[in-house]
Amino acid sequence: MDDGLSRETTARPRLVLISGSLRGGSVNSAVISTAAALAPSEVGTLIYRRMADLPHFNPDDDREPLPEPVSDLRRTLNDACAVLVSTPEYAGSLPGSFKNLLDWTVGGASLYERPVGWINPSALGGSEDTYRALRIVLERAGAEIVAGACKDIPTPRDAIGADGLISCAEIRAEIQSVVAALAERVLAKR
Ligand SMILES: Cc1cc2nc3c(=O)[nH]c(=O)nc-3n(C[C@H](O)[C@H](O)[C@H](O)COP(=O)(O)O)c2cc1C
Repeated sequence: MDDGLSRETTARPRLVLISGSLRGGSVNSAVISTAAALAPSEVGTLIYRRMADLPHFNPDDDREPLPEPVSDLRRTLNDACAVLVSTPEYAGSLPGSFKNLLDWTVGGASLYERPVGWINPSALGGSEDTYRALRIVLERAGAEIVAGACKDIPTPRDAIGADGLISCAEIRAEIQSVVAALAERVLAKR
């Protein structure tokens, strides 16, 4: 299902969705794909899939000409009406690859004043430290954290259906409420 390409369903306003996991069969990626599928028709969606292409953040490289994956990331976020993320916890905090992505957004101010929400799918109701850390990073990046679009939605691995999306109706309803809250904020700003 994941061919490594970002998928755009409409031009604008466009919600960009990012999974903090690179793992095949990732719960976070399934949640992100499900959120994209359940987004209200007023917003388009684009799932960002190039996290693994980003070089390690180095301030020396944060100048023109930027590495191509970095310009692509910044362009993608700068064109976004809002951003939804879902990340696992590794060793008590954000995965290094996802923190690396977030570090690249700071110089480009790509999240500045952009509405951002998150879904914490930790099945055991954990990952509080990670989402606390995420909030701090997003605040430093100047993002607008949309309270109604930030939710713990415990999602066990067996909630992923054969199509790679979350199949459990209750969890899908929770995911839909998050993406609806983010879209509502976007539409209110227009
Ligand atoms: C290296 C590594 C470290 C982990 N550290 C934690 C942790 O500190 N706390 C936790 O709750 N889960 C931890 N986990 C479990 C992952 O967060 C969990 O498996 C998550 O569902 C993975 O997300 P994914 O399915 O989207 O890849 C760790 C997993 C790995 C591979």
